[in-house]
Amino acid sequence: MHVLHVVGARPNLMKAAPVLRALKEHSKVKQTLVHTGQHYDANMSEVFFQQLGIPAPDVNLEVGSGSHSQQTADIMSRFEPVVNRSAPDLVLVYGDVNSTLAAALVCSKLLIRVGHVEAGLRSFDRTMPEEINRLLTDRIADLLFTPSEDADRNLGREGISRNKIHRVGNAMIDTLVRLLPKALQRKMGGLPDRYALVTLHRPSNVDDSRVLKSILESLLEVSLHLDVVFPVHPRTRARIEESGIHAANLHLLEAMPYVEFLGLQRRAAVVITDSGGVQEETTYLQVPCLTLRENTERPVTVTMGTNILVGQDRVKLHAELAKILEGKGKPGRIPPLWDGHASERIAEIIQKL
Ligand code: UD1
Repeated sequence: MHVLHVVGARPNLMKAAPVLRALKEHSKVKQTLVHTGQHYDANMSEVFFQQLGIPAPDVNLEVGSGSHSQQTADIMSRFEPVVNRSAPDLVLVYGDVNSTLAAALVCSKLLIRVGHVEAGLRSFDRTMPEEINRLLTDRIADLLFTPSEDADRNLGREGISRNKIHRVGNAMIDTLVRLLPKALQRKMGGLPDRYALVTLHRPSNVDDSRVLKSILESLLEVSLHLDVVFPVHPRTRARIEESGIHAANLHLLEAMPYVEFLGLQRRAAVVITDSGGVQEETTYLQVPCLTLRENTERPVTVTMGTNILVGQDRVKLHAELAKILEGKGKPGRIPPLWDGHASERIAEIIQKL
C-alpha cells in the first residue's frame, strides 16, 4: 500500500505529522510526502518540519504565492505528473487550504483514491475561500476522516454516503498532546507574565484596510488593560505596516514556530484570533478564546469549548474580555475523541483498505 501525503500551508503540517508517524508503525505501508510550496518562508514551513519531526518532502512543487486560481492551477499542473509517476494507492489531503482542493481534484480525475483529514467542517459562509475548498474536497474524497459529530451531520446533509465517513477525532490535537510538555519547558524571554495573545490573517479581517484599522484600534484599547502579544502572519504584516499603528504594550513579533506558539497559548490570559486551528487548540488547553469572526466551521469549540464568537463587535469583545479578566469567563470541556490518538485510528482504517 502506497500512501502519498500532500501538504502546502502551515496548518497542514500539524495534521499530517501525526498521521505520517502513525502509518510508519504499519510495515506494509510505503509513504511519500509532497509539499506544494504554498507556504515557503522558513518560519511558515521549514521550522515546523523540524519541530514536528516531519521527514523532508520527497517532492516540492514550489508554487509560492499567487491569486487563488493561479495558485490552485499551478499546484494541479505540477502535481499531476508526480501522481502519474508515483502511482499511489491513496492520497491524503489535510484541512481546507488551496493545496488541499488542488491535490484532491487532480486525484479524482486520475481515479486515485483520496482521503480527507478534517472532513465535514462547514462555516456556511461561501465568501471564505476555505469553505469552497472544504465543500469541493469532501464532495470528491473517498474517505472522509471527521473530527466531531457536527462534521458527520454536515456530510450526511450533503448526501455523502455514510460508509465513506469515519469519525476519528482531531489529528491536530495529536500533535498538541505530544508537544505540550516540550512547550511548557520552553519559556520565551522578554514577554510580560500576563497577556492577551493575538493572531489575525483572514482576508476578511486584514485585506480591507478599514476593517483592519478598526481591529487594531480595538487591540490598542485592549492593550490599555493588558499587554498584547501578536505574532504576525506575513499576509498581515504587510497590511499593518501600511496602517502605521503602534503602541508600547502591543508587541508585534515574527510568525512563530509551533512549540513556542503553543507555550504562548497555554500561558495566555486570553487568546484573540480569527484562525480555525487556534479555536481548537484553546478549547483543548481550556484557555479563553475570543474569535473575531461572525461564524465558525468548528462549532464544537463554542458549544463545548472556551470559544466565543465576537465578530467585529468591539463592545462585545471588551465585555467578554472584562469577564475573562475578572475570572468569570466561560468554562469549557474537551470534545470527545480529541485525545491524542486520532491519527492511530486513521492509520488502522487505512491499513485495512
Ligand atoms: C492560507 C490558507 C488559510 C490558512 C493559512 C494559515 C488558503 C486559501 N488559505 O492562508 O486557510 O489558515 O494559510 O497560515 O489556502 N506569504 C508569505 N510567505 C509565505 C506564505 C505566504 O509571505 O510563506 C504571504 C504572501 O504575500 C501571500 C500571502 O502571505 O500572498 C497569503 O498566503 P496564501 O498562501 O495565499 O494564504 P494564507 O493567507 O497564508
